[in-house]
Amino acid sequence: LSGFDAANFMRRHWQRKPLLVRGAFATFVDPLSPREVLALAASDEASARLVQRRGKRWTLEHGPIPPRRIKQLPRRDWTVLVQDTNHFSAASQALLDAFAFIPHARVDDLMVSYAVPGGGVGPHVDSYDVFLVQGHGRRRWQVSTQSDVGFVPGLPLKILERFVPEHEWVLEAGDMLYLPPGVAHQGVAESECLTWSVGLRAPSDGEIVSGFLDHLQESPPAPGHYRDRTAGIARHRGEIPPALLAHAGATLRSIRWKERDVGEFMGRFLTEPKAHVYFTPPRRALCLARFAERGARLGVALDLKSRLMFSGRMFYMNGEALLPPPEARAALRRLADRRELPGPLVAGAAFWALAHAWYLQGFVRLHDREQGP
Ligand code: SIN
Ligand code: CO
Repeated sequence: LSGFDAANFMRRHWQRKPLLVRGAFATFVDPLSPREVLALAASDEASARLVQRRGKRWTLEHGPIPPRRIKQLPRRDWTVLVQDTNHFSAASQALLDAFAFIPHARVDDLMVSYAVPGGGVGPHVDSYDVFLVQGHGRRRWQVSTQSDVGFVPGLPLKILERFVPEHEWVLEAGDMLYLPPGVAHQGVAESECLTWSVGLRAPSDGEIVSGFLDHLQESPPAPGHYRDRTAGIARHRGEIPPALLAHAGATLRSIRWKERDVGEFMGRFLTEPKAHVYFTPPRRALCLARFAERGARLGVALDLKSRLMFSGRMFYMNGEALLPPPEARAALRRLADRRELPGPLVAGAAFWALAHAWYLQGFVRLHDREQGP
């Protein structure tokens, strides 16, 4: 990123206020062309939406959006959005690398919107931060720090009932706009255009609590049972015995967990693949020895859909926790940070054993010099 000081940005703008960076990408090349974006929207692997405005009416259609649907659309006022483009394109993943100052745990995906003139998703607020990077074409962004976030009832999208823009800018290729959560905004295409949004994520406290309670359930349940040897004769058959409630309260209060449980839960939670993601194992898999020999020469890379993170000695790969042997840790940390370890690569047997097991599941691949990870 040019004209952008990441440390300064994190101090002054991150989670606080919008920032416009003109020419953030000195020469911006769209990771995918409009035609490729629409092809992705038509595939059933990607998750896509079509949003169309007709006067005050808005319609939303969920993907796949086939080419024949696109052909029926008017010249103006619609947009197609595709989520997780980084799962399908190494160039999209490479765009995310410009945001390496933010941990993987906070990054959701690289979404793209293709819009014809007048196209957009209407004025709205998001609960996550976003970096909007303009690609091909021009888009007008308006933002407002208004506190009124009431939306129009009865629409398939949350469109603000009242939107009073305070600033507006027309973004061109390579320009970038950062918006913190809660800032109302709307982007309207001035010409046919592509906008790339780096979507960030932050779990809600509700997700953490319900997810953690599910996680605790996987550990063996408390072995005891309610006993009431000293109960006398029931006076009210309809009444729940107070001793039973007291026992339940004491049992629940005895639930304990360690920091380690919290770490393991979060690691699995943050690396868990989204529901529609699946991995493709290699068609003709190499044995461990051949894989290690080629991997040392070419290097290895995470599959575009993989999420690998670590915390202390623990590593988390696509929702699974593991404690690798100490001698494999340094290479695994580098792989988690950069998503690839280019060749030639010197690593020990413990690393290769793990990398091979991941390779068999389609989580890790041999590095491709031409195509990257
Ligand atoms: C868009 O690219 O049109 C939508 C992005 C957003 O408003 O967050
Ligand atoms: Co938005």
